[in-house]
Amino acid sequence: MNFNFKIIINDQVTDDEIYRLRNSVGWDNNCYPFSLTKDNSFVYFAARIKKELIGFIDVVSDGYNDAYIRDLIVAKDYQNLGLGTKLMEEALQFLKQKQIKCIQVTFDSELIGFYKRFGFHIFSAGIIDKDDPTLIERKLS
Ligand SMILES: CC(C)(COP(=O)(O)OP(=O)(O)OC[C@H]1O[C@@H](n2cnc3c(N)ncnc32)[C@H](O)[C@@H]1OP(=O)(O)O)[C@@H](O)C(=O)NCCC(=O)NCCS
Repeated sequence: MNFNFKIIINDQVTDDEIYRLRNSVGWDNNCYPFSLTKDNSFVYFAARIKKELIGFIDVVSDGYNDAYIRDLIVAKDYQNLGLGTKLMEEALQFLKQKQIKCIQVTFDSELIGFYKRFGFHIFSAGIIDKDDPTLIERKLS
């Protein structure tokens, strides 16, 4: 990796920066703003070149048993240069130091190879997204 970025733990990150980053990888902004969820984040890391946010990773956790890694994003122009790997390593190192028992991440199948590198055991998972129109809501009685 030969570009000059900084990874900063729990850096000040604005909602607009997150939205721009999401848009750069084709993700929509159909999510609660980070300013609203930040207080429940266990840890997050921002990667910057000068002031520009070019990478992000967020972790929610109970601080003991479980941690869930989410929103790993590297801006389109900086992908495949090792930054996604570096952000994952920072997050995993932090969680290892905190001795979190179980770390989870969800991803599309095309990224199995990327995540396997970090030692994730791949198994089936379930997910309900209340905003996904393709999901048929199961009526709970
Ligand atoms: C997935 C992502 C975070 C990887 O970050 P990155 O900085 O590009 O990844 P790295 O440079 O550290 O690693 C690159 C490796 O991952 C693989 N990889 C990256 N994106 C991939 C993709 N979409 N599909 C398949 N493999 C991918 C590359 O093939 C490469 O493998 P190689 O080293 O064998 O050539 C980045 O591509 C991204 O932000 N994608 C869009 C958002 C996303 O899908 N995030 C993951 C949410 S679970």
